Amino acid sequence: MRNGYVLWFTGLSGSGKTTIATKLELKLRDMGTLVERLDGDILRETICKDLGFTKEDRIINIERTGFIAELLSRNGVQTLVSLISPYSDSREKLKNRIANFYEIYVHCPIEYCIARDVKGLYTKALQNKTPNFTGVTDIYEVPRQPDLTIDTHQESVEESVNRVLEFLYSKHLILPSWTKEEFV
Ligand code: ADX
Repeated sequence: MRNGYVLWFTGLSGSGKTTIATKLELKLRDMGTLVERLDGDILRETICKDLGFTKEDRIINIERTGFIAELLSRNGVQTLVSLISPYSDSREKLKNRIANFYEIYVHCPIEYCIARDVKGLYTKALQNKTPNFTGVTDIYEVPRQPDLTIDTHQESVEESVNRVLEFLYSKHLILPSWTKEEFV
């Protein structure tokens, strides 16, 4: 069984989407699975370089990413997407269109994101130096019915990654018996 799927990690900037998806990617690769990761920051340096942070541009960003995720997953690739993707409608459209699409809400209260402020962007946004900053001067629509919620302010990265792996096992998207040796 090598079914493709999309795990769509949505959440505020600094909530932990990239960290979790990166660790998960390594674990899945280690199991010998075909896996690819689509990350907002990287896409915005490449195929989405032309886009800003208006509502229109973010919708295009989500659409383009969804398009690639769909191509990958339907060809058996386990596809991990980490994108703020702040709009419920955009996410739901993809969910309705793409087979094996799972929405994972990476939940972290904004005060924790501000305290982490890994990229220094919240400090700038709070000083009104970044217009349309998600969670500060722009909206984030919380998933209504996510397939899984991860609370990154309450659990370690390892725990979060394990919760996603358990989720994948529960959906039979990966098998507990999978080891590297079985796929070499
Ligand atoms: S999305 O809203 O269009 O889905 P995306 O995930 O691609 O966003 O990019 C978010 C990243 O862009 C953030 O992690 C941050 O590094 C950077 N960024 C720069 N400006 C903004 C902004 N106004 N709002 C949110 N993120 C921003």
